Amino acid sequence: MTGSADQSRMDAIVSLAKRRGFIFPSSEIYGGLNGFWDYGPLGVELKRNLKNAWWHDMVTGHDELATPSGAPGPYEMTGLDCTIIMHPQAWRCSGHFDLFHDWLIDCRESKRRYRYDHLLGRWAGYRGRRVFVLTDASGEEGLTATAAKAQKFFGLRAKQAGEIEWEGDLVPLAGHASREEALAPEASEPGTLTEPREFNLMFETRVGAVAGEADNRAFLRPETAQGIFVNFKNVLDTSRVRVPFGIAQIGKSFRNEITPRNFTFRSREFEQMEIEFFCRPADSQAWYRYWRDRRWRWYLELGLSEGRLQLREHEADELSHYSCGTADIEYAFPFLAEGEFGELEGIAHRGDFDLRSHMEGKLVRSGGELVVETDETGKPRHRGSGRDLSYFDDVSRERFVPHVIEPSAGADRAALAFLCDAYTEDEVPDEHGKPRRRTLLKLHPRLAPVKVAVLPLVKKDGMPEMATELYRLLKPHMACQYDEKGSVGRRYARQDEAGTPFCLTVDGASLGDRTVTLRDRDSLEQVRVPLEEAVDRIRERLA
Ligand code: GAP
Repeated sequence: MTGSADQSRMDAIVSLAKRRGFIFPSSEIYGGLNGFWDYGPLGVELKRNLKNAWWHDMVTGHDELATPSGAPGPYEMTGLDCTIIMHPQAWRCSGHFDLFHDWLIDCRESKRRYRYDHLLGRWAGYRGRRVFVLTDASGEEGLTATAAKAQKFFGLRAKQAGEIEWEGDLVPLAGHASREEALAPEASEPGTLTEPREFNLMFETRVGAVAGEADNRAFLRPETAQGIFVNFKNVLDTSRVRVPFGIAQIGKSFRNEITPRNFTFRSREFEQMEIEFFCRPADSQAWYRYWRDRRWRWYLELGLSEGRLQLREHEADELSHYSCGTADIEYAFPFLAEGEFGELEGIAHRGDFDLRSHMEGKLVRSGGELVVETDETGKPRHRGSGRDLSYFDDVSRERFVPHVIEPSAGADRAALAFLCDAYTEDEVPDEHGKPRRRTLLKLHPRLAPVKVAVLPLVKKDGMPEMATELYRLLKPHMACQYDEKGSVGRRYARQDEAGTPFCLTVDGASLGDRTVTLRDRDSLEQVRVPLEEAVDRIRERLA
């Protein structure tokens, strides 16, 4: 964590998310299920608005006749909605069956399980005894955890803690100490960790009624992308799209993460918003740059603070064996250590790897080439579909396998980033002019679950009737809430916490001149607008 200020900010965000019905632990009445989250009445609207904004801005709102700024030329966009369970061979050819794993390590004493690459430690010495003290936290939190652990291990009082000799900073266990020397986070003695093991992250299931047969095994998709690749030919044959074009999909993905953590950031069930963009190999680098910059701008357009965002190009040794370029869009989540960023979206240049894999079979790199991986008998290790997924350009009369640029975003991570970014505490005068602390979500109006709230100042004198009339004018056009319960100050506070950008209040003057007060959540500015014009005035502000 970034220290206590950001930790308490994160705690406040998690508490607001629960209290106001944004996000709940899944099956909470049974104690919750680690890595699974439910979206409540406000959360479902926030996430749906986010997905709708993405779909609109990337697909339905895209003008295929124009060349967008920074693009090599015009392009088309279309969409798909594929099944979560696909033919198992798709995962063998894509590489997920053999390669989609993390390394895990168990502690024999505490029975706790860790991701091997998440274990960090530092050497501590006291009176000739040395131990490598481990933690699964990073930054400040990791330093505090290892300090407390070492003090306990050496049997020291707090005032003796300064006598511990520390060597170096937090470093990964791998390459810095043996398992015999390592004191696991929950263990009392070193040497309790098992050998690291591979763990495939795909959830398995069975298809059909016969249980236990090897050949009815299937997988819950760990990404939506493969559904797009296997439908490439269907889309080409049934629509009029021509290369360059993109296919978009939003949907659930599942990964059996070893250590789900940080609220919804690393979940076991989550939603992705993915585009597979098919282009000519010669133009692919230019399209890669276009999509990297276009996706970066999208987060800014929806109001994410630029100061907390980072665009990070992968180093050559970080790239997948098929990728010629990958960039991550990252956000400085408050649960991360100072200077650390968490991935919101990856934009990858995947070359022709995916389409070729589904044609020929699972590919591996051999020298500079991608070749079909073979078994000991020389046959393909995982046989492809054998279908021709190449593209014939009827203008240039050329046939080629398109290259793919993949902007792949997480809807839950984006929702969490927008929630964290919007969370604000300030001080405003209450109805008597006294300063009052308030919590608000400065959500972009496109993302806000409720766009406008209608409030009669008091529950009498014809104000509820006029407010109901106003509510019915607004309701067909936007998400609108009517609230007459409690003091108007409390009602404003409720709407501020929900991120509602505008409130319309019917008061005594309204009864005379049919005007209402329009209050802006962020500036607190209040202006009077004619009731009959309220819909237009709010729509102007939402645009
Ligand atoms: N098709 C490429 C792909 O799936 P990825 O980087 O593994 O790439 C893309 O995932 C995005 O999906 C991530 O940037 C992140 O936003 C989201 N994501 C991945 N794993 C997640 C998890 N366990 N929980 C929540 N979101 C996740």
